Order: sequence, then C-alpha cells, then structure tokens
Amino acid sequence: MHTIIEPFRIKSVEPIRPSTRTERELWLARAKLNLFSLHTAEVLIDLLTDSGTGAMSSEQWAAIMRGDETYAGAVSFDRFQAAVRETTGFEHVIPTHQGRAAEHLLFGLLGGPGRMIPNNTHFDTTRANIEIGGACAADLPCRESADLHSDEPFKGNMDLEALERVLHSAGKSVPLVMVTITNNAGGGQPVSLANLRGVRALCDRYAVPLFLDACRFAENAWLVRAREPGQHGRTPAAIARSFFDLADGCTMSAKKDGLANIGGFIALRDPEMADELRTRLVVTEGFPTYGGLAGRDLEAIAVGLREVLDPDYLEYRHASIRYVVERLRAAGVPVAWPAGGHAVFLDARRFLPHLDVQEFPGQALALELYLEGGIRSCEIGSVMLGRTNGAGEFEPAQHELVRLAIPRRTYTQSHMDYVLEVIQAVWQRREGVRGVRISKSPKVLRHFRAEFERTPERAGAAR
Ligand code: F0G
Repeated sequence: MHTIIEPFRIKSVEPIRPSTRTERELWLARAKLNLFSLHTAEVLIDLLTDSGTGAMSSEQWAAIMRGDETYAGAVSFDRFQAAVRETTGFEHVIPTHQGRAAEHLLFGLLGGPGRMIPNNTHFDTTRANIEIGGACAADLPCRESADLHSDEPFKGNMDLEALERVLHSAGKSVPLVMVTITNNAGGGQPVSLANLRGVRALCDRYAVPLFLDACRFAENAWLVRAREPGQHGRTPAAIARSFFDLADGCTMSAKKDGLANIGGFIALRDPEMADELRTRLVVTEGFPTYGGLAGRDLEAIAVGLREVLDPDYLEYRHASIRYVVERLRAAGVPVAWPAGGHAVFLDARRFLPHLDVQEFPGQALALELYLEGGIRSCEIGSVMLGRTNGAGEFEPAQHELVRLAIPRRTYTQSHMDYVLEVIQAVWQRREGVRGVRISKSPKVLRHFRAEFERTPERAGAAR
C-alpha cells in the first residue's frame, strides 16, 4: 500500500480555525512581521517548531496520573532515570526543565573565557549559552552540507579534518566536543555512525570528552537505519545505543524525541562531573530528583523515550516528511534534500533569487506562507544566525532556510497536502514577494523578538 497512515487513532481533538487573508495581514502588521509574536488563534497550521508541540499518547496521559510530586526521592524520578539509562546507557541522569537549561549547566561548568566548543552545528540556544559565558562556539559542518540539493545521505556530519585542526592547535582550550543529532540548524540532516566513530577517535587522541546534543536521537537512528550500509537490519533502539556508547554524555531536550511537552536532561558517565552539575542544579533548576520538572513531566518523558523508538512510529514520521519534500522537489520548488528528520526546509535564496541576502529572503518567504495559508514556519537564515561583525559589516548565515517543523503525532496526511498546496501557490507568484529589514533587534537570540518592516519596492521589480 502507498497511502501513508498515521499509526494511531485520535482520542482527543483541538479545533483549528481558518482565517481570511485580510485578517492575517492585520495580525502580521500588529506582530511587526515577526511570526513569533502571533497568537495561537491566528495560526492555522503551526510549523514554527517541533519542540514541545507533539501529541502525547494515552499511555503518557495514564503515566501522568501516577506522577509523584514529592520534593525529594520521588518514585517518578526513578522511572525517569531508568528510562534514560535504558536508552542511553549513561549512569548519571540529571533532569532539567528543558534542553537549554541542560546547556546552561554544562557550559556554566565547562565553558568560560578562552575556551572553545566545537560542534557540527550549534543550535542557537547552545551557541548562546556558550557565548554568554565568554567561550567560543565553533561550527564544523562537513563540506557536503554546503550543497542543499545533492544526494549526500549524511550532511549532518562533522568535518573531521577541521576538528583535527582545532584539536591540534587549541586542544587544551577545548573542554568537550559536541555533536548534534540530527543537525537541526543544518537542515535536520543525520550524522552517520561512521562519522561519530571518527569524532570519537579524535577525542580519544586528544583526551577530550565527547557529548551528544541528543534532542532528535531517534530520528537520527531511523535515518542511519535507512541510509548507512550495514545498519538496515538493526532496531532504532540498538542504533541509538551505538551512538550513545561512543559518547561520554549528552544534553537532551525531551520536547523533541522525548515526546513530551516540556523537559530535558543531562546524562553522563563521569561521577565527579555529575556531582558538580547536581550542586549547580539545585541553585537554578531544583532538587536532583526533579530538576525543574513536575513528577508528572518525568513520567511523560519516561514513557515517551520508549515510544519514540517504535519502528512503526519512526517509519510513519519520516514517510510523511519525505512525502512533502519529494513532491516539492518534483514541482521544482527548491527544498533541502534529502528529506531530514523533523522538518521541511525551503531554500529561500533559490526560491526568491530577486531578493538580496540583506533583505532576508527566509523571513520574507515565511511571512508569505503565513499570508497565503495561515501556516507558521520559522526562518533559519541570516535573521537567526547572521551577524554584524566588529567592522559593522553584515555576515550572512551559510544558508537562507525556512523551516516547516512537523510536530510529532499532531497533524495528519491531509494537513500535509494543504501545506504542499500553500507552498506551491506562493511558488507560482514568487516574483512579487518583497523583502524585509530589521527595525528593532535585541542583542541575543534576536529572531525571537526582532521587529521588521518591508524594504521599499524596487523600480521595475516584477509584480
Ligand atoms: N539543541 C537543539 C538541536 C535544538 O533543536 C534545541 C531546541 C535545543 C538544543 C534547546 O532545547 O528548546 O528544550 O531548550 N530547538 C527548538 C527548535 C527550540 O525549534 O528547533 P529546548
């Protein structure tokens, strides 16, 4: 059978309401052209993020009722710890309220001025948590990641030669190497087991610990199973475990592959580092057996970590994303290829070639998808990752992407057909799409709260 069916039936529904284009224009003007400033009722299909926006299963809701809200020594923590240990093999499990809190703790301990932390590509919160402490965040994506349209199966990989150069020249100042699976900022592309083995070998040679940013570890395992020679016969759980076995620890946002609405953790092997982290945890997150979460959240994550490795679930999840990506590509729409693990990434530079990078084509395209069909997506380009350097020059991001992140178990196949229709409608009238400029910008993580205005229409521009 070719029809993709969701491997679940729906027990609880939440209405979504269509709006008119005139309404959306008004709402967007009030939001100062920042999609993060829209209200939920103003969005029809919300693909802003796959983080914390998934649907929980009946088993998770049942587990929530068992939540033990004891301050210290809650049995919910035991269940959470057992699930994390089972999945990762890491002995020490430190709960946090979400992924960035785990990053804040880890880099509070290991970062600081004069330090450098390499990653395949740092996610924006990871980079911010490193930089806020005075350390340097280095992105070392593999060369293949530069071409969004080639068939390379593992564009999430780290550039091993570049890592070796960094470790050789600055090894003493590198407190750990991170690898993000899947590589979110690089298009949701997977990291191969072979690549991680290469990273491990270099870490061993220079005696530097290796941590995974494991937010999407199950999706990465599924793509490895599909694409890496020798992995096809293995279960996603076994493949995921091979990744964790190569690492010394991980940070995790349970809002992604924890299938929960909130939560995260650090898990690691080193008992002394774990002890230090727990001491800091009490100051900002809470006692080590809840770390900023309610007992019921710990329960939801414990169940989610097991459900996310179900091959039926992972097969449907990837099939549904691949479906959108393949159809867009067949229609000539520039979309990152091959399909990544959690999202559809449009290549806004090729979609809107008449716009200069300084007119933020990614932001312009995201606004257009909203105006056309009430779809909220997210720019991952120069608004999020671009910089103005010391000399006041604009440094663009590597790519100008629009990410349509698919929440887990939330939208159905007909929603995906609607998304396709909206993207294709904007593609048909792409020449008329105008750029934007930033009118107000906070100092860090500017994409969340920046305000924009339209750039003036150029004389002779096609409409
Ligand atoms: N690392 C990666 C790779 C992420 O994608 C995220 C979050 C984090 C860390 C931080 O986790 O949100 O729980 O604090 N990504 C979300 C996104 C926000 O939309 O991609 P968090």
